[in-house]
Amino acid sequence: DLSTTVAGIRLSTCIYNASGPRSGSAEALHKIAQSSAGAVLSKSATLLAQDGNPLPRTWQHTEASLNSEGLPNKGIDYYISDETISEILQSDSSKPYMVSLSGKTTADNITMLRKMVGNTKIAAIELNLACPNIIGKPVVGYDMEQMKDILDQVSQIPNLPPMGIKLPPYLDSVQFQQVATLINQYEWIQFVVSINTLGNATAVSVEAGMPYISSNDGFAGLSGPAVKYTALANVRKWRQMLRPNIDVVGVGGIVTGRDVLEFLLCGAAAVQVGTQHWSEGPKCFDRIVQELSDCMKELGHESVTSLVGTLQPW
Ligand code: DHB
Repeated sequence: DLSTTVAGIRLSTCIYNASGPRSGSAEALHKIAQSSAGAVLSKSATLLAQDGNPLPRTWQHTEASLNSEGLPNKGIDYYISDETISEILQSDSSKPYMVSLSGKTTADNITMLRKMVGNTKIAAIELNLACPNIIGKPVVGYDMEQMKDILDQVSQIPNLPPMGIKLPPYLDSVQFQQVATLINQYEWIQFVVSINTLGNATAVSVEAGMPYISSNDGFAGLSGPAVKYTALANVRKWRQMLRPNIDVVGVGGIVTGRDVLEFLLCGAAAVQVGTQHWSEGPKCFDRIVQELSDCMKELGHESVTSLVGTLQPW
C-alpha cells in the first residue's frame, strides 16, 4: 500500500511533484495529475504574474542542478481559478491539488491567502518561506523575526485550507532548535516541506571563465542528488523535533524508489520530486512509484505509513 496522508488529506501514492519545475501552467500540471503522482502542486505564485530573472538562469549536471529562476509564474488568480483547477484535474477531481505561495512581501502573502479562504477545491496550501532567488530579499526561513511575523499574521486568517510551510535547508543544531520551537507554537501548521534548494551556489564554466548562470551574479539554488543527504538530515530532525501532528514532506535529490524509502525511514509521510521531474518529465512519477513498490516487496514492507520514521538508532 503506497498511499499516505498529509494534513489528513489522502494521497493515493506518497510521491508528488515539488513546486518549481513543470508546474507553472494548467497543461503541465494536468500531466502530473494523469501520472501516478499522489497529488499535484503548483509553481509558487506571486500576487501578480511575472517573467522571472534573465536567461540563462538554469544549469543541469548529473549530480546537481542550479536555478535562479526568480519565480516566473502566472500570478495567484490563475492558480486558484475554477477554470485552471478543472483543466488540471479534468475527470480525476479526487486527486488533491495544492497551491504553493511565495509572495514578495508578507503583505502579498496575506493578500494571496485571503483570496483562498473557503476555497474547497484547494486541498492544501504550501507557504514557501525559502525562495533564495529574489534579488535583495532574504530567505524568510533564515530570519527568525520575519518568520515569526508572517506566522503570526497567518494565524489571524480563519477558514483557510490545510496549511503547510516550505523550509530552506538548515545546517546547524541551534537553528533547528529555534525554528522547531517557533513552528510548534502554531496550531495551523499541519505539515512542513523540507528542503527547498540550498541557496546561493555557483557553477563555473572554465571555458567561458564565467558562472553558467547569468542572473543574480551567478548565485543560484542548488538541487538534485548533491543535496539528498542534507535533505534526509533535515527531514529526520523535523520528525524528531516537531509536534507529532505536523507531517513532514521530504524533498531533495530523489531519483529512485530506493531514495523514497530513505526519506520514509527518516520520517517523511510523503515526498516530492523536483529536479528529476525537471529532467525526466512527468513519467518519472510512474517509474519511481513502481520502483518503490518493488523495493518494498523485496524488503518485506507492506505499507508506506508503517515505515515512516522507523530509522533505528545504532
Ligand atoms: C525559485 C524559487 C524557489 O523557492 C527555489 O527554491 C528556487 C527557485 C525561483 O523561482 O527562483
